[in-house]
Amino acid sequence: MGKMSRMMLLAVLGSGVSGIASAANIVQGQQLYNMHCAACHGGRGEGVMPDAPKFRMGERLEQPDMVLLQSVKSGKKIMPPFFGILQDAQILDVLAYVRTLR
Ligand code: HEC
Repeated sequence: MGKMSRMMLLAVLGSGVSGIASAANIVQGQQLYNMHCAACHGGRGEGVMPDAPKFRMGERLEQPDMVLLQSVKSGKKIMPPFFGILQDAQILDVLAYVRTLR
């Protein structure tokens, strides 16, 4: 994580839940990640399930959020679709958290 994004992360964490309404909520994203994604992608993004991208290594994260959002919604290979389980905003929160794992 670069110095700038670390500062932004601190700013988001420091601002609390009610802080920036439209900005991604990384704390919420972490909770959802641990609940729905960590079993395959690993608690620290190390990738535990074979073929699951290692987010720690930045795998697949070169793609924009809107592309990743679509993959998570519709599912990919053994990854189940999260459409109907998580809202778009929740998935974007998770992706914002995932990007902090690098
Ligand atoms: C059952 C295991 C499993 C779960 C649960 C799971 N994933 Fe995945 N995920 C995978 C696998 C395997 C791939 C690689 C698919 C492929 O080969 O393209 C993947 C790929 C991805 C990608 C890359 C998509 C792309 O287009 O390259 C993202 C982002 C992702 N997962 C995020 C998530 C998030 C966020 C969650 C939780 C909401 C989640 N995954 C839950 C197994 C899982």
